[in-house]
Amino acid sequence: TVVRREDYAAPAYWIDTVDLCFDLDPAKTRVLNKMRLRRNPVVPAQALRLDGEELNVARVLVNGAGCSFKIDGNQLVLESLPEGHEPFDLEIFTICVPEKNTQLMGLYVSQGTFFTQCEAEGFRRITYFLDRPDVMASYTVTLRADKSKYPVLLSNGNLVDEGPLPDGRHFAKWVDPHKKPCYLFALVAGQLVAREQHIISRSGGKHQLQVYVRPGDMDKTEHAMNSLIASVAWDEARFGLPLDLERFMIVATSDFNMGAMENKGLNIFNTKYVLANAATATDTDFANIESVVGHEYFHNWTGNRVTCRDWFQLSLKEGLTVFRDQEFSMDLCAEPSARAVKRIEDVRVLRTAQFPEDAGPMAHPVRPDSYAEINNFYTVTVYEKGAEVVRMMQTLVGRDGFAAGMKLYFERHDGQAVTCDDFAQAIADANPDSDLARLLPQFKRWYSQAGTPHVQAEGVYDADARSYTLTLSQSCLPTPGQALKEPFVIPVSLGLLSADGQQLPLQLAHWTHAEEGSRTLVLTQASESFTFVNLDSAPVPSLLRGFSAPVVLECHYTDAQLLTLLASDPDPFNRWEAGQRLALRRALLAILNEGPVTTEPLDGAFIGAMREVLRHPQLDAAFKELVLTLPSETYIAEQLAEVDPQRVHAVREAMREQLASALQDDWVWAFETHKDNGAYKPDPIGTGRRALAGLALGMLCVAARHTGDAVWPGKAYQHFKNASNMTDRFNALSALVVSEHALAREALTRFHALFRDEALVLDKWFALQAGAPDRNGNVLPAVRKLMTHPDFNIKNPNRARSVIFSYCSANPGAFHRTDAAGYLFWSERVMELDAFNPQVAARLARALDRWKKLAEPYRGAAREAIARVAAKPDLSNDVREVVTRALAD
Ligand code: ARG
Ligand code: ZN
Repeated sequence: TVVRREDYAAPAYWIDTVDLCFDLDPAKTRVLNKMRLRRNPVVPAQALRLDGEELNVARVLVNGAGCSFKIDGNQLVLESLPEGHEPFDLEIFTICVPEKNTQLMGLYVSQGTFFTQCEAEGFRRITYFLDRPDVMASYTVTLRADKSKYPVLLSNGNLVDEGPLPDGRHFAKWVDPHKKPCYLFALVAGQLVAREQHIISRSGGKHQLQVYVRPGDMDKTEHAMNSLIASVAWDEARFGLPLDLERFMIVATSDFNMGAMENKGLNIFNTKYVLANAATATDTDFANIESVVGHEYFHNWTGNRVTCRDWFQLSLKEGLTVFRDQEFSMDLCAEPSARAVKRIEDVRVLRTAQFPEDAGPMAHPVRPDSYAEINNFYTVTVYEKGAEVVRMMQTLVGRDGFAAGMKLYFERHDGQAVTCDDFAQAIADANPDSDLARLLPQFKRWYSQAGTPHVQAEGVYDADARSYTLTLSQSCLPTPGQALKEPFVIPVSLGLLSADGQQLPLQLAHWTHAEEGSRTLVLTQASESFTFVNLDSAPVPSLLRGFSAPVVLECHYTDAQLLTLLASDPDPFNRWEAGQRLALRRALLAILNEGPVTTEPLDGAFIGAMREVLRHPQLDAAFKELVLTLPSETYIAEQLAEVDPQRVHAVREAMREQLASALQDDWVWAFETHKDNGAYKPDPIGTGRRALAGLALGMLCVAARHTGDAVWPGKAYQHFKNASNMTDRFNALSALVVSEHALAREALTRFHALFRDEALVLDKWFALQAGAPDRNGNVLPAVRKLMTHPDFNIKNPNRARSVIFSYCSANPGAFHRTDAAGYLFWSERVMELDAFNPQVAARLARALDRWKKLAEPYRGAAREAIARVAAKPDLSNDVREVVTRALAD
C-alpha cells in the first residue's frame, strides 16, 4: 500500500494529553495508556482509528466504562464514541514483548537495558495511538521496574516523582512541559551512569546536561559532553534559540538502526556517535560525534518545537537540521581553511551518495510524493540535498537575511506541525526584496523535482570588445515518475582569474563599476548569457564556488586552465575541485581506452601539480590530504554511461600506485614532517596533520609493494604498535592491509587482542578486512569467514554494517565479481536480515541501486540477484519497495 502526499487529511481527533504507565519486563511489558481526546471540529464525524502493531489488547475504556471496539488490520477502531466536541477519556491497556523486538523499532532491549525508537512510526508498537506527527500532546510518563536490574528510569521532560515499590521494584514519573508528536517520545531503563554538567546559558537559563552510558564507558563521554555544551551555546549565539528544558539527556546504546534520535529532552544515540577517547576513536569519529550531537540538539527547535505536518515534509526538519549541523561544525573552526575542508567533505558525501541516488531507481524529490515505507525515505536526498536547498536559500538572502527568516519561521510556527512550503515562505517573507522572494515558486522546484541538474558552462572571449560572455545552460534527466523537468533556480557563485592566476575584477556589461572577488549569478532559464567587460585577455572562470548549488557543472576546461585553478584559485573548494577534475579526466581516459589498463595513467603535468600542492608552504595539511586523494570509484563510475567496476577499480589503483611511486620522496617528506604532533587533540590542525601523515604512510606502503622494499611496511608496523592514538594506529594498520603486506596478518591479530572488549573498535577491525583489496577473489571467502567469527553478531546493526555493508557497499573491486558470487552473498544477506530487521535489510538492498549502469556480465547477474530477493514471498514492505523500484523500468 502506497501513501501519497496529496491525500493528506487533518486528523479526525486530537489527543491533548497522554498519561502512560509502563510496567517494564523484557518478556511482558504492560502499558496503560490514558488519553484525553476530542473530535477535530473541522473534520466530518467518523470512527476513531488508532494505529498499533504487535500489541495485545487487554482492556479499552471510554470515560471509565467498557466499550466495543474492533481490530482492523493494524488499527483499533472505535465507532461509538461520545458525540459532540467535548473531550473524553480513553484508556487502553496493552502488552508487548520488548525482548522479542529485533527490528529495534518501538520498545526493545539492548544488553539488558530498555530503549525506544519511535520515529517514524514506532510509537504504534508501544501503544495504540494516532501515530502521525501532526497530533501533538502533553505527556506524563510513569515507569515501574525492578530496581536492581533497572536502577535508572528516564523519559522526556522533568522528573517529578520517584520512589520505591513493593517486591524490589521502584518507579519514576516524568512530565514533559512541551507538547510533542509521539515520534519524539522516549524511555530508557537500565544500569547506566551519567557524566553531568550544569550550565548557565547566555540568557541566564540554568540547565543540567547529562550523557548516560554503560558503566565501563564513562571515560569516553567527555567529547560528547563538550560537543553538547558547544551546541547549546552555538544555537543561542547564531540563531537566538535557547535550550527550553531544565534537563537535557543523551543516552548511548550499542543496538541502534540509525545514528541518533532527537526525542524531546532525551536523545538516544548509537554508541558510535557518543563514545570516544584518543585510544579508541579516530579523528573522523570525533568529528562525527560533534556533528551528530549538534544535529540532534538542533532538532530541539527545528523538528521538535516546529515539527512536520506529515512524513512527506521530513526534509523540513532533516534538511534544515543537517544544514545547521554543517554550519555548527564550520563555525567551530578557527581558520577559514578548516571551514573549506568541512565544506569539501560535505560535498564529497553529496556527490558520492546523493547524486547516485538521484540518478537511480530510488530517486525522489527532497519532498517525496509517495512512499510504501517511510523508513526508506530517510535518505541522502532528504537529508543532504535538503541541506543544500536550505543553503541555497541562505545564499540567495544572505546570512543575516537567513537569520531573520528563521526568526520569522519560529514567530509564525512555534508549537505547530508544518510543511516545507511554510519554511520557504517564512525565509522569503523576511527578505521581500531578495531573489528568493522574487523567484519563490520556481525555487520550490528544488522540493518537487527529483534528479541532479546539469549546468553547462561555455565562455567566449571577444578580444576586440575586451569582453567575456559566459553562457550557462541547465538540464535535468528524467527520474521515475517525472519525465520532464522545469528549469531550477541555480545560484552560481563565480570569479574570474587571469591565466597566471590573478583574481580579476568582475564587471557585468550593465554595471557602472567593477567588483572584487566572487559574485553569485542566479540562473533561472534553460539558458542564459552573462557578459563581463573590461578584460584584457581570456579569463579562466572559477564557477560554482563553494559548490553554490547541488548540480553537475560541465565546463570544457583545458588542462592548463585547471592547473591554474588548482595553483591559484582563492576559492579553496574550486581549487580542490580543479584537482579532482584533472584526476577524473585521466581516470576516464584510461577507462575508456581500448585494451588492457595502462600502468601509467598519469602524466608529468598532473604529477607535478600534485607535488606542488603536497609541498606547498602555505596550504593546510587537511586540504592537501583532500587534494591528494583521488576521486572515489563510486564517483568515477557515476561519470560513465556503462560501468565495468573491475576496470574502474584497476584504473584507480594504477593511478594510486603511480602517484605513490612518482612522489615517493615527497611522501617521505610529508610523513616525516606531519607525524607525531605531540599531545592528541582532535582539532582541525591535528586532524589534518594525522590525515596527511596517514595518507603518506599508505602511499609509501603501496610504493613498497612494487619495489619489494621492506622499510616502509616495517615502519608502518612500528607506528602501528607504538601509536598513541587510534587515528595513527588505524592508519598504520590500514596501510599494511591495503598494501597487502605480510605484516598485515600479525597486526590484525594484535589489534584484535588489544581491543577485544571495545565493540566500536572491533567494528573497525571487521570493516577493514571486509573492505580490503581483492586479490584473486579472496575477500568474499574472508567475509564469509568473518561472519563465523565469535565476535560477529548479525543482529547488532553496527556489526552487521561493519562486515556486510563494508563489503557490499564500500568495496566495489571485491563485490562486483564476474562469477556473481558477491551478488549472491548480497541477496542472501538481504533476505537473512529482512527476517528480523527490515530497516537494516532495506538499506543493504540499496547496494545494487545502480545495477542498470553495469556492463555485462555484471548487469545480468545483478538483475538476477535482485529478482531472487523480489521473489521471496514474505518480504517486509521496506525491502519490497526497494527491490520493486530497482526492477521497474
Ligand atoms: N530523526 C533522526 C535524525 O536524523 C533519524 C531517525 C531515523 N529513524 C528511522 N526510523 N528511519 O536525527
Ligand atoms: Zn535528523
